[in-house]
Amino acid sequence: MTRAPFVTGNWKMHKTVSESLALIDGLLAETEAMTGVEVGVAPPFTALFAVGKRIGNTKLRLCAQNVHFEAHGAFTGEVSAAMLADCGVRYVIIGHSERRTLFGEADEGCQKKVGAVLGAGMRPILCVGETLAERDGGKALSVVTRQINAGLADVSSDKAAEVVVAYEPVWAIGTGRTATPAQAQEVHAHLRSVLTEKFGADFADQVRIQYGGSVKPENASELFGQKDIDGGLIGGASLKQDTFLAIVRGARA
Ligand code: PGA
Repeated sequence: MTRAPFVTGNWKMHKTVSESLALIDGLLAETEAMTGVEVGVAPPFTALFAVGKRIGNTKLRLCAQNVHFEAHGAFTGEVSAAMLADCGVRYVIIGHSERRTLFGEADEGCQKKVGAVLGAGMRPILCVGETLAERDGGKALSVVTRQINAGLADVSSDKAAEVVVAYEPVWAIGTGRTATPAQAQEVHAHLRSVLTEKFGADFADQVRIQYGGSVKPENASELFGQKDIDGGLIGGASLKQDTFLAIVRGARA
């Protein structure tokens, strides 16, 4: 089965509203004419509404970086899935390693967030990945297996194709150190086998598994050329129009 690659820019805590709109205008000038790749951007919460309006019905996909799993209530500082959908958000990043390590997010919360996002008609991008100590201890595959099984525990097979998984080895995020294409492919193939066990081959074949961690224009096409790598989740290199578009071009089938 051919899966359309999906390349998402995770802007993290960068860009004001006006800076966000400037980058969006630059991206739209190129992405509208592109085929063979889906492109997403995840601005900070404060820019989602304005960016969503600017993106409108174009091919660019609005993504959010986080969500709270409750529908509403006394949760100071949090944002619900319905609020994101209302801004035009289509995908929500869940369980990014920075959320897990800096903000104490655990598998159980990710599982609830996946449910909230699907329930609101959006699609989750569930992040999994091992730390350097876990990799050196030979635990990379068992860690990502635990994370994906927990995150998708409540997802039914008919919703599986709406899920996006992002494999982001923690030791490669923002470090300039990238997994080799072979290292990444090994984990991606393993993740797809876990998905096959859970949802069956037909559904698992449709799930896009992005790679993330120091993706740059120079390494993008070789990574994205691997059989089970379906685009990427891009941090630092997504903040500049030229580098992000060069990476997007590297994913085009
Ligand atoms: P990076 O971040 O591309 O800056 O390594 C990737 C991510 O955290 O999604």
